[in-house]
Amino acid sequence: MKVDVLLGLQWGDEGKGKVVDVLTPNYDVVARFQGGPNAGHTLEFEGQKYVLRSIPSGIFQGDKVNIIGNGVVLDPALFKDEAVALEKSGHNLKDRLIISKKAHLIMPTHRVLDAAYEAAKGDSKVGTTGKGIGPTYTDKVSRNGLRVGDLLHNFNEKYAAAKARHEQILKDMNFAYDITDTEKAWFEGIEYLKQFQLVDSEHVINTMLDEGKSVLCEGAQGTMLDVDFGSYPFVTSSNTVCAGACTGLGVSPRRIGDVYGIFKAYCTRVGAGPFPTELFDEVGDKIRDLGHEYGAVTGRKRRCGWIDLVALKYAVMIDGVTKLIMMKSDVLDDFDTIKACVSYKVNGEVIDHFPFDISEGVEPVYVEIPGWKTPMSKMQSEDEFPEEFNNYLSFLEEELGVPVKIVSVGPDREQTIVRYNE
Ligand code: GDP
Ligand code: IMO
Ligand code: MG
Repeated sequence: MKVDVLLGLQWGDEGKGKVVDVLTPNYDVVARFQGGPNAGHTLEFEGQKYVLRSIPSGIFQGDKVNIIGNGVVLDPALFKDEAVALEKSGHNLKDRLIISKKAHLIMPTHRVLDAAYEAAKGDSKVGTTGKGIGPTYTDKVSRNGLRVGDLLHNFNEKYAAAKARHEQILKDMNFAYDITDTEKAWFEGIEYLKQFQLVDSEHVINTMLDEGKSVLCEGAQGTMLDVDFGSYPFVTSSNTVCAGACTGLGVSPRRIGDVYGIFKAYCTRVGAGPFPTELFDEVGDKIRDLGHEYGAVTGRKRRCGWIDLVALKYAVMIDGVTKLIMMKSDVLDDFDTIKACVSYKVNGEVIDHFPFDISEGVEPVYVEIPGWKTPMSKMQSEDEFPEEFNNYLSFLEEELGVPVKIVSVGPDREQTIVRYNE
């Protein structure tokens, strides 16, 4: 069997959690392969809303196996909070969630380092989620990291050595901090983590594939936040692109099947960094209000703008997208005209490829498309789509060269329309 991968194509928060939950009944396994609690994946069903950060979004649909893969960075304290809340609401995790021994642990001092590095950057700070993501991946790559599997052997010694190294850096930076409370919660998280199946998940996943089981990989963040291909340095510290599923789970590239690329009908970004189609006017405010564009975890205001097809085409290319999923269509219900950026003007020259640097002098070139001016959130099938909406879909499919297979018209699991006609 092959693994299918579902990825954000923009700057994150596209609606990955919702769609993973919707697609889970078609799979035996759902696996996270990168990122950590910087993610906030929202799911809504039966009047309940859940926000998942480290736990895969396949946890609510029957007895599926959920895997936290080796490419993920895990904060035991936040993991415990998330898992205990789910267990309290009746979702048993211990039999269904397995965790890679090779996943790296986010330590309390990683979070402090995240804050210290951001403070040191001053005006050019990344606007990270403050969860210690960058410092944890830095330790991984510099071969200093602490892994989940270390819990089982000489853990306290390894922890103390890593902590001492971090303390020295913070001392050199003259950065004041107090981790008394967070460290206590962290060690409680460590004890809690020991109750789970800690395994070499690359063996588990490949064995399951050999047995004919199907796997859906759940991306976090989005392609434009990828450490190699995103708007560097305003990115996260992992490979959010499709290739990340191979390294983050131990799955060969030959085993990748469908790649679901998910995007909003417009575009958002949270944190600092360039965003060519950002709107600073009342149109941007209207999108933010109608789309409730505030961070799922931090509550930070998301920056809003029109869809950027230059960036999206680039993401489709890097990820090898085979099926597109358009989210938040309902948010644009009430616009007379919708704009789509089809190229950039850079120093007077019009380009349609994504350039090395989008930080300055990039002016979006738009086409205008008539809006549908029809409420979509109660629609059940594509037969109800207004003509203007179908025109928007056809335009996007033509530009991106990939069919839009799923359209989302609201946050609830039920507000999802699978398209059959093309
Ligand atoms: P993720 O990080 O990609 O999983 O996305 P987030 O959960 O951070 O942000 C997506 C937000 O949009 C959440 O609040 C969802 O409940 C909401 N949402 C998802 N799909 C739709 C949709 O089609 N319409 C509307 N109005 N909201 C949606
Ligand atoms: P989901 O999975 C949106 C952004 C941060 C910051 C940059 C680096 O919910 O789509 P980090 O803490 O990773 O070092 O921050 O990346 N960022 C996200 N933006 N959605 C996310 O996740 C994000 N995870 C990180 O705002 O700009
Ligand atoms: Mg999110």
